[in-house]
Amino acid sequence: MLILDSVHTYYGHIHALKGISLRVNEGEVVTLIGSNGAGKTTTLNTISGVLPARAGAIYFQDSPQGGGSSSLPGRENGIRLDRMPAHEVARLGVSQSPEGRKIFARLSVQENLAMGAFARTDSDGVRDDLERVFELFPRLKERLSQPGGTLSGGEQQMLAIGRALMSSPRILLLDEPSMGLAPLLVQQIFQIIREINAQGTTILLVEQNAQAALQVADRGYVLETGNIVLSGAADSLLANPQVAEAYLGI
Ligand SMILES: Nc1ncnc2c1ncn2[C@@H]1O[C@H](COP(=O)(O)OP(=O)(O)OP(=O)(O)O)[C@@H](O)[C@H]1O
Ligand SMILES: [Mg+2]
Repeated sequence: MLILDSVHTYYGHIHALKGISLRVNEGEVVTLIGSNGAGKTTTLNTISGVLPARAGAIYFQDSPQGGGSSSLPGRENGIRLDRMPAHEVARLGVSQSPEGRKIFARLSVQENLAMGAFARTDSDGVRDDLERVFELFPRLKERLSQPGGTLSGGEQQMLAIGRALMSSPRILLLDEPSMGLAPLLVQQIFQIIREINAQGTTILLVEQNAQAALQVADRGYVLETGNIVLSGAADSLLANPQVAEAYLGI
């Protein structure tokens, strides 16, 4: 569904992504793990079009059945996301729940969720997705009129994920959903990630909590200073001594 082929991203002269290649297949949970500053957020921001890729290509299959413009000749890998503006990438069904939550502090929970669906015209679908978000996060339903900025950290994280789901994405990019949460809530968030995936949404999950991420993921990639240094099935990465030492604290 998503292919990154030798993607390079810079901040001015700083070479943050040094030729990243990865793929996410339809229906998978894929995790990208790595330490602070490895380039995880940069990778998600490059996919979503917030940052430009200076070299390489990003491909997306824009329809599930091989229809859509991806089925045109010469587009076997999908359509190019790199150099596409962020709002067009979002419209194709790529939705990001950003690091540090970045919800709208002055807008209510209800308004934040509505912002996630602002580009949609299928009001029945929007209503169904709102119900789905309330089922996943009953807490949000109880706090519909509360300003986003006054929610607890965990509730803001729920709202950020809920808002991303309101665009009815084909692929959800999650940037450190467990950051700053108490252990019990961390378990809950990962359980919800599983549920979202089981309902048919493909997920690319960025995490520093490598253990929990590899437990929900099908496959994983390890990022170190802008390079992918390891990749494989999540259970084989969990069992890998190099991963255990560097990322699992074992
Ligand atoms: N706006 C920016 N200007 C300059 N350098 C930046 C900018 N944003 C990120 N970087 C640098 O790019 C590198 C990758 O940063 P990135 O935010 O992608 O890391 P990360 O893996 O998400 O880390 P963390 O786990 O701490 O969130 C870092 O060296 C960082 O200092
Ligand atoms: Mg980050």
